[in-house]
Amino acid sequence: MVDTGSETYRANYAWMTREIDRLRAELKRSTEGGGAKYNERHKARGKLLPRERIEALLDEGSYFLEIAPLAGIGMEGEVPGAGIIGGIGLVENRECLIIANEATAKGGATGEPGLIKNARLADVARENRLPTILLVEAAGADLPQQSKVFVPGGRGFREITRRSKLRIPTISVVFGPSTAGGAYLPGMSDYVVMVRKRASVYLAGPPLVKMATGETADEESLGGAEMHSRVSGLSDFLADSELDGLRIAREIVSHFNLPKPTVEMAPVEEPLYPAEELLGIASADPRVPFEAREIIARIVDGSRFTEFKAQYGTTLVTGFAHVHGFPVGILANNGVLMSESAAKGAQFIALANQQNIPLLFLQNITGFMVGRSYEEQGIIRNGAKLINAVSNSTVPAITIMIGGSYGAGNYAMCGRAYDPRFLFTWPNHRIAVMGPQQLAGVMDIVKREGAARQGMAVDEEQLTSQKKALEDQITRESDPYFATARVWDDGIIDPRDTRTVLAISLSAALNRTVEGTMEWGVFRH
Ligand code: COA
Repeated sequence: MVDTGSETYRANYAWMTREIDRLRAELKRSTEGGGAKYNERHKARGKLLPRERIEALLDEGSYFLEIAPLAGIGMEGEVPGAGIIGGIGLVENRECLIIANEATAKGGATGEPGLIKNARLADVARENRLPTILLVEAAGADLPQQSKVFVPGGRGFREITRRSKLRIPTISVVFGPSTAGGAYLPGMSDYVVMVRKRASVYLAGPPLVKMATGETADEESLGGAEMHSRVSGLSDFLADSELDGLRIAREIVSHFNLPKPTVEMAPVEEPLYPAEELLGIASADPRVPFEAREIIARIVDGSRFTEFKAQYGTTLVTGFAHVHGFPVGILANNGVLMSESAAKGAQFIALANQQNIPLLFLQNITGFMVGRSYEEQGIIRNGAKLINAVSNSTVPAITIMIGGSYGAGNYAMCGRAYDPRFLFTWPNHRIAVMGPQQLAGVMDIVKREGAARQGMAVDEEQLTSQKKALEDQITRESDPYFATARVWDDGIIDPRDTRTVLAISLSAALNRTVEGTMEWGVFRH
């Protein structure tokens, strides 16, 4: 039972509320595109803003689960949302991935964070078999950043056609100038819609053509929607206006014949305990543990959780439940990972695969247990079992980082490198190879031992300031905003939205047939 009157609960609640305010402010800032001046200019040209295009495309009342809305935050050459808006919503009652260029920021050009975000969005489309609708108005590469984006940027175009081969269609609706890289977005798509008198798609714009060949051409004759629809054949549908283009995209989607695979659903029930209490349960300090079952009780249907091996390997809670009617197998940290908990987790993952049940990882992990007796008992061997199971599991997995994510615990609990279909974090999330104090402490010991081996005296003042600087650096780098800027996750969420975010993610993931495996690498016994 949670004591909502306790000092700890109240302190956590107050801290989390402040952090949610910060999150809301950052999310709002991420929607401002290139700022008032460029937004006004865009509107004065009679154009819809990228977010208005998305709204007009979506079914009335549809959700829109944004992926990595804070990508690039605090990074060099920051542009809101890294210059792209990407997310999942309903079009003609079908789940689609929608990607819109933020045309008011640097003409919709893509820099390094934008490239990383684009790659992630391509993964979301491919892994979940989601049709993609690109709302294109893109100046191609961010030219001053060309050395960072040119070579890896090619992958985005390759991904569109590889998805096409997997029968995952892409529709491009072109609203404005789309140059060079921007031109290959429609170029590689399965369906291209161009808006009359607005879209212009060319490898090089008039100034570059003039420089390269001396030819004089205007935008419309070089790459206008009429020319591409009547002459070059790059455009498949000529739209009269932006709204007409979006209508055509919806019509194309309505003809798709991609029936959604089914899973056995249960009736949806609200949890018995309020989501609001998650704010006071989750620790503000990642070093302070909290009870995973209290989190589960506020996320799953009817707060019903069939716990597996409740008395064994108790630092990992495992069991079956439903979220919005979707079946899930949950693995949640309840302390440091021990040999028994790791082996239990591996067994549980195999059970979920046997029954084609999606997995939900709730990460709050400082790492695996260290120390002589634990090494003797085979903590590495047992940890490897869990990592083997996570690596080879083929049911969809969703990871929510509800606290710390340190060391190999990040890997064993399906961190980013293990390709969960979706990965979201809470504002109290911290991520690093280890905590800042521990890391700085380790380096301090290493330096002292190095000096002792060489018979040198240590400069205490210098070591102390180095230790402090390193601790500060790791604290900065462990911050959830540092992580989300680099798209190590799909976004920071308000803990109260976890159940909704999970439901949308699970539903999206189930566009691909769930086929659990019974084949694993060699388990070390
Ligand atoms: N990289 C970096 N910044 C770019 C950019 C690019 N590819 N394209 C445009 N910008 C910047 C502009 O410098 C301008 O910045 P400023 O306002 O601080 O001076 C801002 O984005 C808006 O550009 P602007 O030209 O005023 O917008 P527009 O809507 O009138 O025209 C384009 C948009 C895309 C037609 C035009 O900017 C353009 O032709 N860009 C170059 C496209 C190109 O050749 N890309 C090749 C990529 S490989």
